[in-house]
Amino acid sequence: MREIYLHGSRILIGEDVANIHKYLPSSRVVVVVTDSNVRKRYGALCDAFPTIEIEPGEPNKTLAAISYITSELVRMEADRTTFILGVGGGIVCDVAGFAASIFMRGLPFGFVATTLLSQVDASVGGKNGVNYEGYKNMLGVFAQPQLVICDPQSLETLPQREFVAGFAEIVKAAMIADASLFAYIEQNAEKALQKDRQTIAHIVYEAVKIKAGIVAEDERERGERRKLNLGHTFAHAIEKNAALMHGEAVSVGLCKAAHLAVMLKLMSDSEQKRVETLLQRLTLPTAVDVPNAALCAAMRKDKKKSGTAIHVVLPVGIGRCEVREMSLAALSYLMSVDKTVVIL
Ligand SMILES: NC(=O)c1ccc[n+]([C@@H]2O[C@H](COP(=O)([O-])OP(=O)(O)OC[C@H]3O[C@@H](n4cnc5c(N)ncnc54)[C@H](O)[C@@H]3O)[C@@H](O)[C@H]2O)c1
Ligand SMILES: [Zn+2]
Repeated sequence: MREIYLHGSRILIGEDVANIHKYLPSSRVVVVVTDSNVRKRYGALCDAFPTIEIEPGEPNKTLAAISYITSELVRMEADRTTFILGVGGGIVCDVAGFAASIFMRGLPFGFVATTLLSQVDASVGGKNGVNYEGYKNMLGVFAQPQLVICDPQSLETLPQREFVAGFAEIVKAAMIADASLFAYIEQNAEKALQKDRQTIAHIVYEAVKIKAGIVAEDERERGERRKLNLGHTFAHAIEKNAALMHGEAVSVGLCKAAHLAVMLKLMSDSEQKRVETLLQRLTLPTAVDVPNAALCAAMRKDKKKSGTAIHVVLPVGIGRCEVREMSLAALSYLMSVDKTVVIL
C-alpha cells in the first residue's frame, strides 16, 4: 500500500477496503452515499452504515440527486459532525462530494473509489459537482476529501468497458507530464488490459502522483491545473453529442488535441501516431461521428470559455503540454482543416 498526501487529503493506493475502519473518524457518524450497482458489490460496507443510494449513470449526476441526498441527510438528522463516505465511481464521488460540501456549509467527506477512472482522477483533487442544463460539471465546488481509498480488488467486478475507460485519463496524465509513464503503458498495455495487479498498481500510483502534484501547485485552477483538462474541451462536447462514456470521450478528445498540436507544429506526426496507437491498443475509441459544427456549438458553453475565447490544452510532444487561449472562431477553423497552420 502506498500513500499520497494532498492538501489534507490522504490517498491510500492498494489498501483493502475491508480495512476502512482504521481510517474513518471514530467519533463521527458515517453515512455512505453509493449507487445501486456498487451497493450490490459492497453490501457489507453499506450494511455497516446508514446508506443513501442514488441511480447510476451520467444522467443522474444532477441537482435532483443532490436534493435527494440532502433530504435524506435531513431525515437521518445528520449534523456538522457527520462524515460522508462516497463509495463508487466518478459519478458517486462528484455527487457525494458536492452534497457533503454544501450540506450545513460543509461536512467532512471521503471516498472509496471503485472504478479505475475514479481511482486515477475523479476521487483526487477536490473538484465536486454536477451537470446542469445539459452541460458538464456546470455547478460545483472545490473541497478536498479527507480520505481516498483505491482498492485494486474493486476493479475485478468492473465491466471491461468501464475499466478501459479509465485508461483515457491515465494516458492523459502521461501526455501532460510523464513521458516515461506513457512508455511504460506502451510496454505493458496487454498486461494492463488483463488487470495484472502489479501493472495496475504502478499505473494508478503514477497517475495519482501526477494529478496530485499539479493540484498541489494550483488547487483552484488558476493556471497549471488547467493542463488536467487536456482533451476535455472536446470530450465534454462529444459527451453532449454522442453516447460515449466520459473516459471514451476523453480518448477521442486526446486525439483531437494531438491533431491540433500537429497542425500548430507542437507535436510531430509520429508522436500523434503513438498517442492514437496506444489508445487503440487499449481498445479505446479515437474518433467519433459527430460533425465539427455540433462540437463547436457545445464548446461555446464550456466552463473553460471566457468571452469569445477558450482555453485549449495542447500537447507539446509527449509528456508536456501548454494552455493557449484561442478564439472560438480560430478553434472552429482549425478543426475544419487538415493542414499545418501558422497562427501569427
Ligand atoms: N471531479 C473530478 O475531478 C473528475 C475527474 C474525472 C472524471 N470525473 C467524472 O467522473 C465521471 C465518470 O466516472 P466513472 O467512469 O467512474 O463512471 P461511473 O461512476 O458512472 O461508474 C461506471 C459504472 O460502473 C459501476 N461501478 C462502479 N464501481 C464498480 C465496481 N467496482 N464493480 C462493478 N461496477 C461498478 C457504476 O455503477 C457505473 O454504472 C464523469 O461524470 C466525469 O465527469 C470527475
Ligand atoms: Zn475527465
